Amino acid sequence: MKQHLVIFDTTLRDGEQSPGASMTREEKIRVARQLEKMRVDVIEAGFAAASPGDFESIQAIAHAIKDSTICSLARANENDINRAGEAIKPAKSGRIHTFIATSPIHMEKKLRMSPDQVVEQAVKSIGWARQYTDDIEFSAEDAGRSEIDFLCRIFEAVIKAGARTINVPDTVGYAIPFQYAETMRQLIERVPNSDKVIWSVHCHNDLGLAVSNSLAAVLAGARQVECTINGLGERAGNAALEEIVMAVRTRPDIFELETRIDTTQIVPASKLISQITGYPVQPNKAVVGANAFAHESGIHQDGVLKHRETYEIMRAQDVGWSQNKLVLGKHSGRNAFKSRLQELGIELESDEAVNAAFARFKELADRKHEIFDEDLHALVSDEVVTPDQEHYKLLYSHVCSETGEMPHAKVILSVGGVEQKGEAGGGGPVDATFKAIESIVNSGAELMLYSVNAITTGTDAQGEVTTRLTKADRVVNGNGADTDIVIASARSYLNALNKLHSSLDKVKAQGDV
Ligand code: KIV
Ligand code: ZN
Repeated sequence: MKQHLVIFDTTLRDGEQSPGASMTREEKIRVARQLEKMRVDVIEAGFAAASPGDFESIQAIAHAIKDSTICSLARANENDINRAGEAIKPAKSGRIHTFIATSPIHMEKKLRMSPDQVVEQAVKSIGWARQYTDDIEFSAEDAGRSEIDFLCRIFEAVIKAGARTINVPDTVGYAIPFQYAETMRQLIERVPNSDKVIWSVHCHNDLGLAVSNSLAAVLAGARQVECTINGLGERAGNAALEEIVMAVRTRPDIFELETRIDTTQIVPASKLISQITGYPVQPNKAVVGANAFAHESGIHQDGVLKHRETYEIMRAQDVGWSQNKLVLGKHSGRNAFKSRLQELGIELESDEAVNAAFARFKELADRKHEIFDEDLHALVSDEVVTPDQEHYKLLYSHVCSETGEMPHAKVILSVGGVEQKGEAGGGGPVDATFKAIESIVNSGAELMLYSVNAITTGTDAQGEVTTRLTKADRVVNGNGADTDIVIASARSYLNALNKLHSSLDKVKAQGDV
């Protein structure tokens, strides 16, 4: 029988540490639901002590998710562990993941602690965590640059204290596959009680080796991989979940392991993360890039038509690319619309939400001949916004843009239910529209990112716009989609303003981890 490889997803924690990738509580719950549907074993939902917002998000996810273990990160101190323990309390299965740095440079320069003190603190932390759960993971931060004798010593001590999973992170992305595998092999061999725990890897991608290092460690005996959707994460990111899972599945001759992952949920998860965070997926990205299954050269196309496996090692539909992308048109009815949403795994909470999405679908179908799955994803993401999150709403927008003249925009917004008008000139139609909105809202927020992406092909495609705003340490991403990119932009900007308006405590302690 094949051994199980635990897939530990940290998109909501390490992934969220990417600059500007912060998510609202509702967005995190959507992501967690998608991860649960994909059947990841463990969801690291956040770092409870980082802020009250993080704590509440973890708690809400712990309430909502039943089929994955919910984990919170905690530094090796009593306060962090108590916050983590409280946050995961509602979970059917909850884990505390505590960590302390073990490399000479981190212990001396950052912690200012001696190796003996670090071991003592780590052991105490396991004791605090055991008051909440038996499912405790211990990480030796910067293990990739730590001395192996010291790692053996601290791991033996925390296993004795009750840790069940031992994680060996390459925090700074310094490791090289053969050497990292050798470290893992030696740890498992030398730590006397190593058979009592699951060994785990957590790799960063600074040298582009996160996935290779993780897989090398798996071959050396690790049975948990920590990874993120699209490889999102601190600096150059973490190991990409989709690459790890598909490598293990595609090469059973090398990896005699199985995961629980429903791989058909990979592409929907990738799109969801990209849309929420505003981090685009590069077209040539393995597994989830738009070109990952596109054959351009004549020789390849000919080969694939004759026999798919001449040039394809995976099937596009196995990772969730829909084969028949054309789904609905102008004459499709509410039932066809609803059942396509169900096939895509999209659940709208109420009949009103379905009706509102259907009305928007009809409106879109009037302007756009063919509606694709991607259009439906963009369309319904607007329905996830609840009325109380829509303090600012676009009622009307008009832009005048002609050669040699400065573009001019007029907008009418509903602000807390009251209609207000604004107008402004700008460098282009989008700039003018944003300034017209600002003439009403006066947000004082700084625009960090504005990006437009065509959802499908053709000039009638919907443009999906991401707008990132920052104000007083808060960073939010807004999304909007429409066949008219000025309207998509206005929606995206207002979506971000609404998030700023309703976010009370999104001040992140990003530098702490
Ligand atoms: O990269 C790292 O070391 C981490 C730990 C907190 C596991 O993210
Ligand atoms: Zn990390």
